[in-house]
Amino acid sequence: MEKQNKAPAVNMKQVEKIITGYKGQKWALIPLAQEIQEKIGYIPPEAIPRIAGSLGLFPSQVQGVVSFYSQLYTHPRGRNIVSVCRGTACHVRGGKSILKLVKQHLGVDEGQTTEDMEYTLETVACLGVCALAPNMMINKDTHGNLNPKKISRIFGRNKKE
Ligand code: FES
Repeated sequence: MEKQNKAPAVNMKQVEKIITGYKGQKWALIPLAQEIQEKIGYIPPEAIPRIAGSLGLFPSQVQGVVSFYSQLYTHPRGRNIVSVCRGTACHVRGGKSILKLVKQHLGVDEGQTTEDMEYTLETVACLGVCALAPNMMINKDTHGNLNPKKISRIFGRNKKE
């Protein structure tokens, strides 16, 4: 189950401004959703009926599209995205323990965000750098050959006390 944390209030004026820019353009649902996500970080639920009304769609259609695309998020995510690899190469080299350690360090489960909105923890099928297994990414940085010491160093260093 997804853990939801308190996110900063959404600037709906900003969202409305983006929506207005696409008025009546049914084809533009995805670019519109992407632009909102770019500015706000996710698609706030309260934006769904507004988007639908402006484009001339049903809210259920907008919700359906937004839920379908895994790159569109309907809840706030952390400032940093931690993606632990659960691919085969990483798995056989201790990926499961690495994931467990990361969970302990962050105090969240897969798909969850830390209370301070600093980290969202996700898992991915393969990061494409199997030779360095076990691996994880934090945003765009790959961390390979992971072990408990490295995990402590990474999160000890990154974590705000
Ligand atoms: S299986 Fe982990 S990077 Fe490929």
